Amino acid sequence: MPTALITGASAGLGAEFARQLARRRADLILVARSADALEALAAELRSAHGVAVEVLTADLAEEAGAELVAARLRDGADPIDLLVNNAGFGLPLQFADNDIDDEVRHLRVHVEASMRLMHAALQTMRGRGGRIINVASVAGFISRSTYSACKSWLIGFSRWANVEYARDGVSVTALCPGFTHTSFHERMGLAVGDEGVPTLMWLNAADVVRAGLRDAALGRAVSVPSLRYKALVALTKVLPSSLTAGVARRGRV
Ligand SMILES: NC(=O)c1ccc[n+]([C@@H]2O[C@H](COP(=O)([O-])OP(=O)(O)OC[C@H]3O[C@@H](n4cnc5c(N)ncnc54)[C@H](OP(=O)(O)O)[C@@H]3O)[C@@H](O)[C@H]2O)c1
Repeated sequence: MPTALITGASAGLGAEFARQLARRRADLILVARSADALEALAAELRSAHGVAVEVLTADLAEEAGAELVAARLRDGADPIDLLVNNAGFGLPLQFADNDIDDEVRHLRVHVEASMRLMHAALQTMRGRGGRIINVASVAGFISRSTYSACKSWLIGFSRWANVEYARDGVSVTALCPGFTHTSFHERMGLAVGDEGVPTLMWLNAADVVRAGLRDAALGRAVSVPSLRYKALVALTKVLPSSLTAGVARRGRV
C-alpha cells in the first residue's frame, strides 16, 4: 500500500489530495500548521477508508518545521512513495509594498521548503522509486512579482529533476493550476469577485487534483489542468511578455 506525504493538507488542494489518495487506499502523512484541522481530516479519512493517517504539525517557513518533515521523509524504515509539495500562500500587495519578512517567509514556504523536502524524499526514493508533485501555478509561466518567480522556479526545477531521476524510478511533476476554488484568495483578504476573473476561468479542486495525480502517474514533468488553461499557457509562449504581464495584473493565481 503506498504512503503519501502532503504539505498544506489542512485546507484547499492539499485536503483534496488527502481525500482522493485515501479513496485509493494510500496511507497518509498530513502536514500544515493548523493541528485541529489536520486531526479532524485524519479522523475522517481513517474512519471512511480504513487508512493509516499521521499528522505532522509544522510551519514550513521555519527551518525547524521543514527539518521535522524532512526527517520523516528520510526515514528509510517507513518510506514515503509520494511527496506532494503543496503548502503555499499569496501576498496581498506588490513586492515593494509587502513587508520584506513576509516576502522571505513566502520564498521559504514555496521554494526553500519544497527544495529541502524533495532532497529528503530522494534519499529513500532513488532506487526504490517514487513520485513527487510540486504544486506550482500557471502564474509560473508569466511575470508577476515574487509569486510567479517562485512558481517558475518549481516548474524549471521539476522539468530538470523529472529527467534526471527517471533513471532512479522517480518522477517529478509540476502541477500548474489556474484560479481554483480554495481558501487561497480569501486568506489574502480577497473575495472571488475581487479578482475580476470570469466565472469560466475558475476550476474546482477535485478536477485539479485528479489531473495532477493522473499526469504524475504518466511521468509528466508539467501538468496544466483543463483545456482552457492549456490554451492560455500555449499563448504565453508566443505573446510578448509585456502583454502577459499586463493581463497577469488582473488576478492572483
Ligand atoms: N487556489 C488557487 O487559485 C491556486 C492556483 C494555483 C496554484 N495554487 C497553489 O496551490 C497550493 C495550495 O493552495 P490552496 O489554493 O489550496 O490554498 P489554501 O486553501 O489557502 O491552502 C493552503 C495550505 O497551505 C498551508 N500553509 C500555508 N502556509 C504554511 C506554512 N508556513 N507551513 C505549513 N503549511 C502552510 C495551509 O495550512 P495552515 O494554514 O494550516 O498552515 C493550507 O493547508 C499553493 O501552493 C498555491 O500557491 C493555488
